[in-house]
Amino acid sequence: MFHVKHLLGAIMSSQQDVRAPILREITLNSERAKRVDAAKLVPPAKTRIITVSNQKGGVGKTTTAVNVAAALAIKGLRVLVIDLDPQGNASTALGVEHHNGVPGSYEVLVDGSAVGPLVQRSPEHENLFCLPASINLAGAEIDMVNVDRREKVLASALATYVDETAPRIDFIFIDSPPSLGLLTVNALVAATEVLVPIQCEYYALEGVTQLIANIERVKKALNPSLDISSILLTMFDNRTNLSTDVANEVRKYFPEQTLAATIPRSVRLSEAPSYGQTAITFDPKNSGSLAYQEAAIELAQRGDHL
Ligand SMILES: Nc1ncnc2c1ncn2[C@@H]1O[C@H](COP(=O)(O)OP(=O)(O)O)[C@@H](O)[C@H]1O
Ligand SMILES: [Mg+2]
Repeated sequence: MFHVKHLLGAIMSSQQDVRAPILREITLNSERAKRVDAAKLVPPAKTRIITVSNQKGGVGKTTTAVNVAAALAIKGLRVLVIDLDPQGNASTALGVEHHNGVPGSYEVLVDGSAVGPLVQRSPEHENLFCLPASINLAGAEIDMVNVDRREKVLASALATYVDETAPRIDFIFIDSPPSLGLLTVNALVAATEVLVPIQCEYYALEGVTQLIANIERVKKALNPSLDISSILLTMFDNRTNLSTDVANEVRKYFPEQTLAATIPRSVRLSEAPSYGQTAITFDPKNSGSLAYQEAAIELAQRGDHL
């Protein structure tokens, strides 16, 4: 009898050991959720246009663009996401139509269409809008060869859109493809800020050096008002030393730009798009969603420039 009790006791305490961190996380997350809910955001003095860029694929650009955008929309700001990646992943996550034949960013870039009539409201939130991308955007760089001032097409289309849209759009996020072609150049020329997601993995910083050089080139030649305003650490895995090392390194080199919020690896973040949703509405209390809401609040509160 004594042995059974002893054994049960051992099992109970080992279960508690397993449950304790989970309970701690639940308590911590509910405190974070309260802080996120309580945060009040003031609309910026003028529309902030932010390109989410990193020439590496799979670092979290699209996930960042749609979740930060959704978080700001829920906070009462009016937000437009421009999908400038032919894969159309941002359009999918925002639940807007973007099959072949739906006009969107291709028509703006190649045909000179106005942005306003092609913008769709996302079912995610009444304040959230999207200029979709369909697969024809893959041919845009070639089809733009004869377009006049072709690096500035998006910049001038957006300037007109911002002027003509009432009530005003507070934030525009441009989700760019993983290369420095004409699409990305258009995105960098149209924006005043770049938000760089950096995946916490070994080669992360190598890519960033190249990205900064490219941004400097665009700044010099085409858009003097462009700056890297924010860096966001993504896919952080606190069980690995590597993630911590990369995060520390990035913070050392970019102490002012790097947001305090860090996005953890989270299955919920990767599942949400297959439901045509952002993680913010799909599972708002998940640690990944909370981290994106915290990042969005920080981004909004630190103002246009550092
Ligand atoms: N924090 C994260 N945790 C887990 N999976 C993520 C996270 N961020 C992004 N993903 C997944 O990783 C893949 C690449 O992310 P994505 O945002 O599409 O990158 P990019 O736009 O830079 O190519 C996608 O399948 C996405 O769902
Ligand atoms: Mg993407």
